[in-house]
Amino acid sequence: MEIRTGRISDLDALAAVERECFPPEEAATKDEIEKRLLAYPEHFWLLFDGDKLVSFVDGMVTDEADLRDEMYADASLHDENGCWQMLFGVNTIPAYRRQGCAASLIRRAIDDAAAQGRKGLVLTCKEEKIHYYAKFGFVNEGVSSSVHGGAVWYQMRLRFSTATLVE
Ligand SMILES: CC(C)(COP(=O)(O)OP(=O)(O)OC[C@H]1O[C@@H](n2cnc3c(N)ncnc32)[C@H](O)[C@@H]1OP(=O)(O)O)[C@@H](O)C(=O)NCCC(=O)NCCS
Repeated sequence: MEIRTGRISDLDALAAVERECFPPEEAATKDEIEKRLLAYPEHFWLLFDGDKLVSFVDGMVTDEADLRDEMYADASLHDENGCWQMLFGVNTIPAYRRQGCAASLIRRAIDDAAAQGRKGLVLTCKEEKIHYYAKFGFVNEGVSSSVHGGAVWYQMRLRFSTATLVE
């Protein structure tokens, strides 16, 4: 298993995994994924079993502290010098679930965000996943303003202590 960041040549595989993991009303479209890949390939983390993409996570960087729905579709909101790493989709194809695939990607995203001197990471999730992200240090901030896919989302934040920030 190998983790690396994104390339535009990953587009088809990413769109296929996204479709397998989310219902149509929540899944990012191929067009959205392409715009994100062009704007911030270094903020995609992909896990491969051989040459098969089995899991990925992605998200823009911004100075905005809260994750809002416009960020999913508008890759131009990415600010490479921003202080918060957002995490949008966390996806593992069904046959590879419950083996720590998503966990290894989330840990890598956290490590990279720390190394890049960010303040921390922000994500939104459904209520049943709050305990999962809490294991990595994310703290639940309550119901988010997001109405993505018509669901109720909770915003969670992992804030680095100043001691872990790279000068
Ligand atoms: C959510 C999702 C990304 C998790 O991916 P994953 O690769 O299975 O994640 P992990 O293996 O790290 O953890 C999943 C569970 O398996 C458990 N697990 C991890 N390794 C395990 C192992 N070796 N044996 C048994 N269980 C294990 C984890 O503890 C976790 O359990 P929990 O949900 O009770 O906390 C995946 O199920 C998915 O793509 N779902 C559809 C899309 C989605 O809902 N994404 C999240 C949006 S908020």
